[in-house]
Amino acid sequence: MVVAYTIADLIKKGLEALEEGEYNNPLLDSQLLLCNVLNVDKIYTYTHKDQVVDSHFVDKFLNLIDKRKSGYPIQYILKNQEFMGLDFFVKEGVLIPRPDTEVLVEYIIDIVNKGYFNNKDTIKIVDIGTGSGAITLSLAHYLENVHIYSIDVSDIALQVATENSKKLGLESKVTFLNGDLFEPLEKLKLQNSIDIIVSNPPYIPTNDIAGLQKEVAEYEPKLALDGGDDGLDFYRRIVKDSGKYLSDNGVLAMEIGYNQGAAVRKMLEEDKGNVPLSCVEIIKDLAGHDRVVVGFFKAIENGDCKLLP
Ligand SMILES: C[S@@+](CC[C@H](N)C(=O)[O-])C[C@H]1O[C@@H](n2cnc3c(N)ncnc32)[C@H](O)[C@@H]1O
Repeated sequence: MVVAYTIADLIKKGLEALEEGEYNNPLLDSQLLLCNVLNVDKIYTYTHKDQVVDSHFVDKFLNLIDKRKSGYPIQYILKNQEFMGLDFFVKEGVLIPRPDTEVLVEYIIDIVNKGYFNNKDTIKIVDIGTGSGAITLSLAHYLENVHIYSIDVSDIALQVATENSKKLGLESKVTFLNGDLFEPLEKLKLQNSIDIIVSNPPYIPTNDIAGLQKEVAEYEPKLALDGGDDGLDFYRRIVKDSGKYLSDNGVLAMEIGYNQGAAVRKMLEEDKGNVPLSCVEIIKDLAGHDRVVVGFFKAIENGDCKLLP
C-alpha cells in the first residue's frame, strides 16, 4: 500500500527521526530539509500543511533526514550559512562560519568606524585563512574604504570565497591569494603597509579533534581545525611575521579558543622577532569566554589601549 504523506506528516516524521540523535534543533532541521526538497519557504509549510507530497519528494526528503541523522551538517545539505546578516554559500571542504567569529568582525568594524584609521583613503586589510570568505566579505560589505587581501592554502576555500564575493557584489574590494600564511604577500610588496591583519586560524589541538561533535570532527575540513599539538602553531607563526607587514598604526586581531587568551596575549606582548605590539586586549564573546585577541602597534591615545567602551 502506498502511504500518502502531507507536509505536516513529513515534518513530524523528520522530527521524530532526528529527535533520537543529539541535534540542536530537530524541528527546524526537519522543516528546512523539507523546504529544500520542495523548493518553498518555511511559511509555505505552515500555510499548506495538509498538502499531499509527491512520493518522489518524500523519498528525497527521507534520504536527507537519514543523511542529517548520520551527523552530516545541515549547512552542507542546504549549501548556506548566514553570517553577519549575509548569506554565504558553503559546501564540504570549507569551514561553516560560526557566530563566535562575528565578535572579531564587529570589533574591527567598530575600530574603523570610531576613526582609528581616519587619515587613510583606503584601509588595507589581510585576512589569513579565508574559508568561505565570511570575515573578508563581511568587512568588505560593511566598511567603505577597504581593500582586503584574503589568503588560504585550500583551493576549495578560495573557490567558495570567490563565488561568495560575486554573489555579494564585492569582487572589486578583495584580492584572493593562494598560499601559506603571509607567503603570497611577498611578491606584492606589501611590507609595512597593512593596516589590519585579521585571522580566525585553525586552533584546535590535534588530539582534541576526534573528541569534537561528530558534525565537526567527521565532516569539517581538518585543515581548518588543526592548530598543532597545543593548538597554538598558527598564532606563533602569524605573530612572528605580522611585524613585517603591519603599518606604523597597524592592528593584529585574531579569534582564539576560549582557553587560549593568556598564551596568545603573552605571544603578542613578548614577540621577539618584531617590535612588540604595544597594547594587547582580549575581547570576550556573549557567553563571557575569551574570543578575540587584539594587538595595536601603537597605543591609541596617551598610552591608553581602550578605544572601545
Ligand atoms: C578556522 S578556518 C577559518 C575560515 C573563515 N575565516 C571563517 O572564520 O569562517 C581556518 C582557515 O585557514 C586555512 N588555512 C589552514 N592552513 C593555512 C595556511 N598555512 N595558510 C593559509 N590558510 C590556511 C584553512 O584552509 C581554513 O580555511
